[in-house]
Amino acid sequence: MENFNFYAPTYFAFGKDRENDCGELVKRFGGSKVLIHYGGGSVVRSGLLDRVKASLQKAGVPFVELGGVMPNPRSGLVYQGIELCKKEQVDFVLAVGGGSTIDSSKAIAAGVVYDGDFWDFYQGKLIEKALPVGTILTIAAAGSEGSPDSVITNEDGMIKRGATGDAIRPKFSILNPALTETLPAYQTACGITDIIAHLYERYLTNTKDVEVTDRLIEGLILTMKTEAPKVMANLTDYEARANIMWAGMVAHNNIVGVGRSQDWTSHQIEHELSALYDCAHGAGLAVTMPAVFTYNCKHDVMRFAQIAVRVWGCQMDFANPERTARDGIEALRSFLISIGMPKNFAELGAREEDIEKLAYTCCYGKGDEGGEIGGFVPLKQSDVEAIYRLML
Ligand code: NZQ
Ligand code: ZN
Repeated sequence: MENFNFYAPTYFAFGKDRENDCGELVKRFGGSKVLIHYGGGSVVRSGLLDRVKASLQKAGVPFVELGGVMPNPRSGLVYQGIELCKKEQVDFVLAVGGGSTIDSSKAIAAGVVYDGDFWDFYQGKLIEKALPVGTILTIAAAGSEGSPDSVITNEDGMIKRGATGDAIRPKFSILNPALTETLPAYQTACGITDIIAHLYERYLTNTKDVEVTDRLIEGLILTMKTEAPKVMANLTDYEARANIMWAGMVAHNNIVGVGRSQDWTSHQIEHELSALYDCAHGAGLAVTMPAVFTYNCKHDVMRFAQIAVRVWGCQMDFANPERTARDGIEALRSFLISIGMPKNFAELGAREEDIEKLAYTCCYGKGDEGGEIGGFVPLKQSDVEAIYRLML
């Protein structure tokens, strides 16, 4: 195991009706004027936004609002949010929604206290200062409620990039599983896929002897395997939603990723797809993961065989471990298809003729990249192209 620091000081308020505590929590974490930031309207329709405002009013905390965050959140709204916060002297950003709303909130929070262009952070500059952020999560997926990361799409070129820094880790996150019961089946499955991807990205490591985090990851994927069919069969299964919601947080606040190298190839390759075609991140990952794993399988057959046996229930073929490894990848693919995820480029709305461009942007688009991606196996543009072709 490698040396590590782990400090993840988000306060979690979990369970039914907890959104009613948001006014008190904002005060507790120093907010005196709030920006309520939300998406395309699901929180208006569900009545959540009204409950949030009532809680802030009860706590005597004034607020302004900015809705309209799109899935794969855009830079334009971030600039608007920064201006609004400066004009209104906001000192706390409250995200009410999914990963897109939370990420947009984090970008605004960092941009308000920065003299330059907030996009600098999405080109590699560490976020060291930001307004405090709180979240009320409505979809179990991205894990942004416990992570120090934010992913934004720059409308200038439709480039999707991530930024990071402990300053944007939420001060508090309210997780009420009942709020996720209004999610359609497709969005629910996209979230489940993203959670599984966050676990695989950490599982695929070159660090030896990381049994505790291996076992935690396996336990979480096993949980998704048992809870996903329950929630897909009954979208208002509170207990299944509760297990998935907490798994989504644990999968991505990095408690299961410490002390080990991590991969993130599938995310890098997927981000090009959701940037160009505006598909859901989870749907893109469902198509990307089996292709990446198939391509990288030979790099560490025993690691893929281990997860095949321990999670997917495959029989170990000692004479041919690669067969076991590949069986595990196929089991993952079948599972994702069984919950309604797309299986290839066509179902995702992606086009073969874009492959060269996608691979180029993936490897060089950041400007500061050396043309290689991947923490598990270093991949060049030609490798990334080959992976996209496996998705056809
Ligand atoms: O905008 P509204 O109307 O709220 O609708 C949303 C949106 O259309 C809807 N939705 C959310 N909660 C709902 C609901 N509909 C009905 N009932 C509810 N309770 O679901 C749609 C998707 O929402 P979004 O916020 O985009 O989903 P998600 O949480 O999956 O976030 C995806 C974004 O997070 C990024 C992704 O790249 C993507 O841009 N990621 C962020 C990470 C991070 N910050 O740590 C890590 C992830 O790997 C990921 O890259
Ligand atoms: Zn993700």
